[in-house]
Order: sequence, then C-alpha cells, then structure tokens
Amino acid sequence: MVLPPRPLFLCLEGLDGTGKSTQCELLVSWLERLGRKVVFARDPGSTGLGLEIRRLLLEYKGNMATGCEMALFFAARAQMLEEVIRPALKEGRDVVLDRYLLSTIAYQGYGAGLDVDRIWQAGLFAASDLLPQLILVLDLAVNVSMGRLNGIRDRMESRGNAYFDSVRNGFLQEASKNPETIRIIPAEGDRLTVHSRIRQEICNAFNE
Ligand code: TYD
Repeated sequence: MVLPPRPLFLCLEGLDGTGKSTQCELLVSWLERLGRKVVFARDPGSTGLGLEIRRLLLEYKGNMATGCEMALFFAARAQMLEEVIRPALKEGRDVVLDRYLLSTIAYQGYGAGLDVDRIWQAGLFAASDLLPQLILVLDLAVNVSMGRLNGIRDRMESRGNAYFDSVRNGFLQEASKNPETIRIIPAEGDRLTVHSRIRQEICNAFNE
C-alpha cells in the first residue's frame, strides 16, 4: 500500500464519546510510521486565540444564541486555518484534524436548527474554501456514545439525547449526500479494530 507523496488533509468527525481523540492519535502515529510528517489540530483550539474561543464555547454560563455559537466556531477555525493548517500543507505535511466544518453542520445545523445550506456557504467562506480531502465520521448509537462520557459534561455535552440524535442523523445524511469525501466508520469494537477500519478507508481513498 502506497499513499501519495502529496500532503493529505484528513479529518475525523463524530459525536462526543465516539473515540475520536484516541483514533486521531492512532492515525497520526500510523502516518508517522509510514515516514510522513504530520500536523495534528483540534477544532476548536490549536491556536492561542482558538483556545480562548474554545473556553467560551465550552464554559460560558449564560445563554448563547446559536448564531453566536456558529460564528465563534467559524472564528476559531479561521484562525487555525491561517496559523496551522495552511502552513503545514504548504510545507508538505499531512494534516489530521479532530473536527472541522462538518461538526458545525451537524451540531448547529441538524442539532440546533440553523439552515444547513447556509452554514455550508458561510462556513466555506470562513474556511477560505479549504476542506479536508477525506472526512471520516465515527458512528455510534447515541446512548452508547453518551454512556462513554464520564465526569462533568461541558456546555455542549450537557444537551439531551434528542439533540444528539439529530446531530448523528446530520452526520449520516451529509455522508450519504457526499459519499466521495465523507465516509462513515462504525465505531463499535476495540480501538485497534476501529483504527484498522480507518486505515482501510484511507487506503481505499488514496492508494496509488
Ligand atoms: P471537544 O471537547 O473538542 O469535544 P470532542 O472531544 O468530543 O471533540 O468539544 C467540542 C464540542 O463542540 C463538542 O461537543 C462538539 C462541539 N462542536 C460544535 O458544536 N460545532 C463545531 O463546529 C465544532 C467544531 C464542535
């Protein structure tokens, strides 16, 4: 199996509790073992400004309008794009992201009711039309993924299961609309089983 020499721009998505962070780590290690240079980033976050915005998004105690929430995610992402993603791709490094614009579509669109087409338009503008080549959505039933969250839930995680059902449905619908770039990865099973599904999907997409 040979991956192309050009930099890969990959993103893992999915509900909270689907094991994204663990799978991002395994994916980065695998790419590095193949001799590739990899930059990992977490959306929102990964820049000084992005971390401040992330804190607001996860910890703000007052009421936050969904449009404000969306705009804050866009703001953090725009900063990350300029500071982290674009320079990495320019230097020939792969980029692995823990979430990106599809999360805004699923959470603020399907979950919270903002118009999905308009989020795509505004989100692409905020992200300078730069989208991952491949988005892998870790998919798990809501009661299972929520059951995996332990400890105190943050502002986003404390929403009810009906909200997360709509978010999950959003990921699934968007994948069926864009099967070339958005692929569903069943997230049940142990971490190495899920990791091998991810590798397989990447190989299918990029093997040359
Ligand atoms: P985070 O702790 O990064 O969650 P996880 O580890 O599950 O990725 O918190 C990000 C939260 O913000 C998570 O609940 C998903 C949500 N989110 C949105 O609602 N819209 C977005 O555009 C993004 C990027 C995240």
